[in-house]
Amino acid sequence: MRAVDIITAKRDGGELSGEEIAFLIKGFTGGEIPDYQVAAWAMAVFFRGMNAAETAALTEAMLDSGGRMDLSGIPGPLVDKHSTGGVGDKTSLILAPLAASLGLRDPMMSGRALGHTGGTLDKLESIPGYRTGLSPQEFREILARDGFAMTGQTKDTVPADRLLYALRDVTGTVESIPLITASILSKKKAEGAEALVLDVKYGAGAFMKEGAEAEKLARSLTNTGAALGIRIIVLLTSMEEPLGRMVGNFLEVEECWACLDPAAYGGADDSGAQGPAGSADLMEVTLELGARMLMLGGKAAHSAQGRLLCVESLRSGKPRELFLQNIKSQGGDPERFLAMLGTYRSPHRAEIRAEREGYISRIDAWKVGHAGISLGVGRNRSGDTVSPAAGIELHRKSGDRVKAGDLIMTVWGKDKTALDAALGGLGAALEYAETPPPRTARILKEIRQD
Ligand code: URA
Repeated sequence: MRAVDIITAKRDGGELSGEEIAFLIKGFTGGEIPDYQVAAWAMAVFFRGMNAAETAALTEAMLDSGGRMDLSGIPGPLVDKHSTGGVGDKTSLILAPLAASLGLRDPMMSGRALGHTGGTLDKLESIPGYRTGLSPQEFREILARDGFAMTGQTKDTVPADRLLYALRDVTGTVESIPLITASILSKKKAEGAEALVLDVKYGAGAFMKEGAEAEKLARSLTNTGAALGIRIIVLLTSMEEPLGRMVGNFLEVEECWACLDPAAYGGADDSGAQGPAGSADLMEVTLELGARMLMLGGKAAHSAQGRLLCVESLRSGKPRELFLQNIKSQGGDPERFLAMLGTYRSPHRAEIRAEREGYISRIDAWKVGHAGISLGVGRNRSGDTVSPAAGIELHRKSGDRVKAGDLIMTVWGKDKTALDAALGGLGAALEYAETPPPRTARILKEIRQD
């Protein structure tokens, strides 16, 4: 078998056999098939797609590239959540301790920043000392003790995804339904999740721009998940505008910390419009996802009950304690983390102010995400290091009325050049209108396995 024949077969629209896919992934992981051939193949898959059998074979091949976490003996339910990627999309950092506080165990294997979207691992590593390269033994121990553990793929677990993810990031091959499906589900199967809530994003700042495309991705994920024996609920959620008020690595951790503050849940209702000022949209999505995790874990009969349980737990402060405990368990220093809140920012700072009076009608998540890459939040090349303290704070969101000169965004960049490069894009991301923009739903649809 030769890699070039597999590339040309896919380029010409052919169906690949399980053996061909396994050969390519094995050769890539073992270093025998070079990056450039795999990049060409990924581009062929991007244009030609894969059918359900090929997607399942790719997921299995990636899973077989390494070992699986052995979670035997750890009492479940083992329920995780994963997102297809967005801007300011930080729900995992709130959901893992929240799920653990309610009796679930969340074995979370996450990714890094991909394209213009942020990565859970990069966010966590902005906490000094925090280690995301846990050994299987450490992952097990932390999961058993804290109720959740957060790790990345290692050379032992799904190494194929680590390599392919980095290659896709810099070769324009991220937005592919089979490649996203295999990437997510190989990690989720390897980490040992029994059930999974997937946040499939659509809109300007998502990899799938339209709801219909996102729905196709959702169906690919639920079908491939069923073949792997993972129970899945998908929520299709909007990513037109960044989620919450922070975009950046430490900035997003900081917003999550504020969302875990019991004082932010003083109200008596469970409407979902709760949490700290500026984070209502983030908490709306987080509570809906959390409710589905509880349903899959047998802790809630329906979503309203699940949301209520989540809010009650946030009010108790337990998820916040677990978050700090996890920082300690994964090598960080909780005291130092607390001392950095509100102050850990890149030194180069600028402000974006309203150019005119009116309503903010749109903040384009894609443009904000790309400005984030310039600032140092994400990567331009696979080897780039990200800047932990760079990013954007959104003081206003769409629907807000502003006067000329009002502060809309504060921006921090790793250096002056980075800051200057980002400012034009951020200005262009903002649109104004004379009248309030129509309120669009954050959650479009729920999709379950047949
Ligand atoms: N998240 C992943 O883990 N992989 C993708 O390809 C996209 C989002």
